[in-house]
Amino acid sequence: MAKVKMVAGEWGSLATDTQLTKEQIETKARGLLGQMSLDEKIHQMSGDTPLLSGGYEMMYTYNARPIPAGENLRLGIPGIRFSDGPRGVVMGNSTCFPVSMARGASWDVDLEERIGDAIGVEARSQGANFYGGVCINLLRHPAWGRAQETYGEDPHHLGEMGAALVRGVQRHIMACAKHYALNSMENARFKVDVRVKEGALREIYLPHFKRCVDVGVASIMSAYNKVNGQWCGHHTHLLREVLKGEWGFEGFVVSDFMWGVRDTKSAALGGLDIEMPFTRFYGKKLKRLVERGEVPEAVIDEAVLRILRQKIRFAQVGEPGRYDPSAVVSPAHQALAREAAQKSIVLLKNEASEKGGKPLLPIDRSSVRRIAFIGKLAPTPNIGDHGSSQVRPPYVITPLEAFRSYASDLSIDYDNGGKMDSAVEIARQADLVVAVVGYTHVEEGEYIPRVLFWPAKGGDRASLRLAEEDEKLIINLAGANPNLVVVMMGGSAIVTEAWREQAPAILMAWYPGMEGGKALVDVLLGEVNPSGKLPCAFPKSEDQLPFFDRDAVSIEYGYYHGYRLMDKKGYAPAFPFGFGLSYTTYEYSNLSLEREEIGLDGKLQVGVDITNRGQVAGEEIAQLYVGYPHAEVERPVKELKGFARVSIQPGETRRVEFNLLAQRLAYYDESEGWTVEPGDYKVYAGPSSDPQVLLGTGFRIRAS
Ligand code: GLC
Repeated sequence: MAKVKMVAGEWGSLATDTQLTKEQIETKARGLLGQMSLDEKIHQMSGDTPLLSGGYEMMYTYNARPIPAGENLRLGIPGIRFSDGPRGVVMGNSTCFPVSMARGASWDVDLEERIGDAIGVEARSQGANFYGGVCINLLRHPAWGRAQETYGEDPHHLGEMGAALVRGVQRHIMACAKHYALNSMENARFKVDVRVKEGALREIYLPHFKRCVDVGVASIMSAYNKVNGQWCGHHTHLLREVLKGEWGFEGFVVSDFMWGVRDTKSAALGGLDIEMPFTRFYGKKLKRLVERGEVPEAVIDEAVLRILRQKIRFAQVGEPGRYDPSAVVSPAHQALAREAAQKSIVLLKNEASEKGGKPLLPIDRSSVRRIAFIGKLAPTPNIGDHGSSQVRPPYVITPLEAFRSYASDLSIDYDNGGKMDSAVEIARQADLVVAVVGYTHVEEGEYIPRVLFWPAKGGDRASLRLAEEDEKLIINLAGANPNLVVVMMGGSAIVTEAWREQAPAILMAWYPGMEGGKALVDVLLGEVNPSGKLPCAFPKSEDQLPFFDRDAVSIEYGYYHGYRLMDKKGYAPAFPFGFGLSYTTYEYSNLSLEREEIGLDGKLQVGVDITNRGQVAGEEIAQLYVGYPHAEVERPVKELKGFARVSIQPGETRRVEFNLLAQRLAYYDESEGWTVEPGDYKVYAGPSSDPQVLLGTGFRIRAS
């Protein structure tokens, strides 16, 4: 590929040792703008990669190096230098963390911020100044091919996790939150028009983006799809009115790659600041429109100022001693990948294989000497999608390999399950069977349509169940040996009805990253007490989900999906949102409120006691929901408004406090805007969204 000339040094002429105030940043940005010709300004606004040679390189080795946009050699202003994610850094051979959906299951914002810090260091150590890996699209339906790139189904949870990643990354480089907005279908992403009413848009599909804006995210990537008839990259309402207007976003908007812009004038007027990764619609075409007066030069100036402000801001950010090739996949980052995998594995079921016996897990080393691993995925480095989010770590520890090296005192047999008879025979001879089953990048992932000779790949799931042969395998294994543990891999919910009753123990391992196998050993052997909880409801069948058609040209997104839909319809899912077991038991008690009434701008402290009633220490994820039983407008039965991960010793009681702001309970009224309704509210606290396990009480919001 023709090499793009880049400004020397990380920040070229913008490098500075002193901290600039906001005013000084503004003055500097305007000063630079004043020195730029129209060509130079417009050059800030699109990718520098040559279309043909660069496109060819991207197809083969996507993001092997930073993807630049807006390098200005004359003034020494570097471009944005893009690196993709979110599983880690796509460039080079970087640390591969568990996918975002797994990290969502950790509900651990501190951990997510540390992952962000590691990603920021690794990206900058490899020449990037911009991380395009904060994916916070809401999981409306688990068939979405890229579900694994986001954190889950709930806007509050998504916002907290996304904001944590932004904070961590932005200690080092600019972060970009994507794909704005309502991008949660894969095969149809270049054509689908998502129809949504303003209330559902504001309350369900946008709050997590607003949360990232509030913590100062430098950039937002527009989505490929249309919303209410307009392409997201041209969307005046989403980009200009909501994001840049109401929310006061000070950063810049980049397009999703290649098909994120369809028309020069609509994109520029709509509020799209940078076309990525090539110059197709901006560049000369944009200049012509400015010269003809069809796009005011003020629009260009506004975009360039937004870009310059962030570059100047981030030229002062960082911890210079930390950027070095040796920081990539450092021992500390490997340990972090392992911690993330340990905290994200969800124990879904753990029963005894015989009446009156002990639960199957953790594996009892005094009686289990011989373990049979069954299934193709046991020895497979299964770390997720092979699309733009693919990270290429130097190694991946698979479940089988991890058991062989970290539990070498156990005798381990393996069968790939391809021939039922041999798998069943091996299972019969073992003390315990671990079946590793689920999805890979073949059945779900980013959808790349066929281009010339390259075949199409990835896409939305065709079904939410395991493959038929895996379901049969589980049933036969259970028949051969009652001590059966099923480990599932995948990027979102899996329907388990056909075999769930027959498997006494089930774990969801997601795509657990390069250290995933080791984390699984830690959990199965009880060296780590599982603590992950589902960031999306696992339904009993697709009937418990909203309408989904992966080929839709137009689709209606409403108010209800996930646990909100289950609550409304009274469905009992297979495993509720927020659910996960551990090797101990927790008891919730003493839910109490600081007071019973608050004003429209008031704040309420909610406390609940959690006691560890078992024999081992653990970490529990406590959840706070609010319900609106007397609302005058349509509202969900309840919504997540807080969560906390707490570590509790056996016999210990910890009190968890949540702060509830009345303003955070507002609904969106099309004519009045955000409105807090006075009246009676419910508060629930407990271990999951299951109404059966939540403690509840009530409070009032006064009209004044
Ligand atoms: C892709 C994705 C986006 C990614 C970008 C670069 O098609 O939608 O997430 O960052 O384009 O590959």
